[in-house]
Amino acid sequence: MAKEIILTGDRPTGALHLGHYVGSLRKRVAMQDTGKYDTFVMIADLQALTDNADNPEKIRQNILEVMLDYLAVGLTPDKTTFLVQSHIPALYELPMYYSNLVTMSRLERNPTIKNEIKMRDFERSIPVGFMTYPISQAADITAFKAKYVPVGEDQLPMLEQAREIVNSFNRIYKCDILVEPEAVLPDNASCNRLVGIDGNTKMSKSLGNCIYLKDDEKTLKQKIMSMFTDPTHINVSDPGHTEGNPVFIYLEAFSTDEDFANFMPEYKNLAEMKEHYERGGLGDMKCKKLLNNVMQQFLAPIRARREEYEKDKGELLNILRKGTERAIEVSNQTVSEVRNAIGINYFNDKSFLERFVK
Ligand code: TRP
Repeated sequence: MAKEIILTGDRPTGALHLGHYVGSLRKRVAMQDTGKYDTFVMIADLQALTDNADNPEKIRQNILEVMLDYLAVGLTPDKTTFLVQSHIPALYELPMYYSNLVTMSRLERNPTIKNEIKMRDFERSIPVGFMTYPISQAADITAFKAKYVPVGEDQLPMLEQAREIVNSFNRIYKCDILVEPEAVLPDNASCNRLVGIDGNTKMSKSLGNCIYLKDDEKTLKQKIMSMFTDPTHINVSDPGHTEGNPVFIYLEAFSTDEDFANFMPEYKNLAEMKEHYERGGLGDMKCKKLLNNVMQQFLAPIRARREEYEKDKGELLNILRKGTERAIEVSNQTVSEVRNAIGINYFNDKSFLERFVK
């Protein structure tokens, strides 16, 4: 039986950070490694252009950067097909058909879009391409007939939109060509929207509060030591808050019981440590030191793999080119089914000619 398909992607607007990791990369690697799925990972350069049309250089610079991050976290070309969005013809054609199935008001209601418009101060000068990128994203997913889409919670409205398009398409054109996708979310709430080191609700490059997968040992340590904690926890003896406290959120997202055995044996697990912090008597410095140990241990193999792959940029580009070629084939097949379903395949449809030749 054909394997079920996974597709997901990232905009190449900067190096990937811990938010990307816990939000989606971790799940992708785990799913890839089961060997049960056909996995596609896309560099969404077209989507990146929707709000960076005047700065394509930023996107160019980040194509191989994102490839490096992918390979560094353990995605591998023997198990995952890497592709670049702008080189896939299907991703230009499908949105054209889908956009007739979506109303303007439906796009305007999309909470992710609403939020991004606010963050970018677009007001009324919203590029059309930006407004319609949920349609393009539905094409990304359906072109490969993906069933699973590992993403963070912020992408749920995109998946909802994609499902609506799939259902409208299959209903209107009386077929079952398109596959309804579902999101694969991270395991716990701390991972769903990882806070920044400043405590801001989202780790984001534009807010300057990120820890990058490629941060070196010293940078990582500095960032952790400067992290926002609980402003009411002034003296070590004060009772502290762990909820909304970035140090504890990161520990929630990254630490294991084994880390406690290795780095802080006085507690069996995070729950015990939290309890002490909340009771009072546990200082922020000690918590940050633990977090630094946990994170250094986590990032060490990622940095090492990155260094290896960095030696041969040509090979990186080859991996991306080969994956893109395969992706073109797979998605062209879907396009041809879609054209058949709509009935615009005039040159390969015998019944079309027969109608007119008596
Ligand atoms: N919108 C996603 C993001 O901003 C990137 C993306 C583009 C994507 N196309 C996709 C994610 C298809 C999942 C599936 O991170």
